Amino acid sequence: MSGLEPAVEINCVTHEYPGGVCAVCGLSLRIERGETVVILGPNGSGKTTLLHHILGLLKPKEGVIRVLGYEMPEEAEKAREAMGVVLQDVDDQLIMPTVLEDVAFGLVARGVPRKEAERRAREVLRELGLEDLEDRPPQFLSGGQKRMVALAGAVVIDPELLILDEPTTGLDHLAAERFVEVLSGLKEDRPNLTVILTTFDVDVAATLADRVVLIRDGTVSVEGPPDEILTDPGLLREHGIKPPKHVELLHELGIDSPPLDVEEAVEMLRSMGLHG
Ligand SMILES: Nc1ncnc2c1ncn2[C@@H]1O[C@H](COP(=O)(O)OP(=O)(O)OP(=O)(O)O)[C@@H](O)[C@H]1O
Ligand SMILES: [Mg+2]
Repeated sequence: MSGLEPAVEINCVTHEYPGGVCAVCGLSLRIERGETVVILGPNGSGKTTLLHHILGLLKPKEGVIRVLGYEMPEEAEKAREAMGVVLQDVDDQLIMPTVLEDVAFGLVARGVPRKEAERRAREVLRELGLEDLEDRPPQFLSGGQKRMVALAGAVVIDPELLILDEPTTGLDHLAAERFVEVLSGLKEDRPNLTVILTTFDVDVAATLADRVVLIRDGTVSVEGPPDEILTDPGLLREHGIKPPKHVELLHELGIDSPPLDVEEAVEMLRSMGLHG
């Protein structure tokens, strides 16, 4: 397989659920290896449906999807060998009696002997600061702990592609920051890892995204670098996303292209003489 091949190639994909709901409508998107792409869009805009296509869980009515060089959903089994996922409904994926067994599950399913799988699971749990949860039943963890454990299970297989559907929804501020820190650390250690993440949180997008994709009515409406997309309050609001507070403030002050970085914004205000 060539290293230059994109991680994900989606061409004119359409998905209709029974009843004729067009959840994904002629959507095209190409994601390069090593890229972190953050997908933003209002409720019901088709984000989860799109991710389910990338995972090969659904068959498109029209169009073609290739993931890691494999045709989806026909070759989904092969593609999924190298894919880690945190589903929107995390309860659907935590199935084993203990956290350790759950995190080791992906390795055992890929033929790694149980002892070795548990050794590697312990290592990842330590890396993510979750070692104290090892013997707990996953179903009794808090929402934030569940998402972190699901992330551990997704990265333990050392995936080429990581898919995260609203991974910080329901997390408190500190837990969300911790999740983002952990992901940033993972990306530093594994620069070839491709990450596709959906969120409503502009801070998460600003910290992690190489590219932001806005979707609406089942199709890509705008895409671009975070400092262009996330500093356009009108565009974000049209897509159900709350713009960063400092971006709104600078817009109110008549600045059309405010910086995404808060410290740069403070510097800009200072240079305008707007400080105490
Ligand atoms: N299993 C299903 N059967 C029928 N319609 C569905 C099903 N799942 C989703 N839909 C519909 O498809 C559209 C896209 O849903 P999807 O879950 O992909 O959106 P989303 O962008 O992930 O939304 P959210 O932000 O709420 O998670 C919506 O209109 C939804 O009602
Ligand atoms: Mg969704």
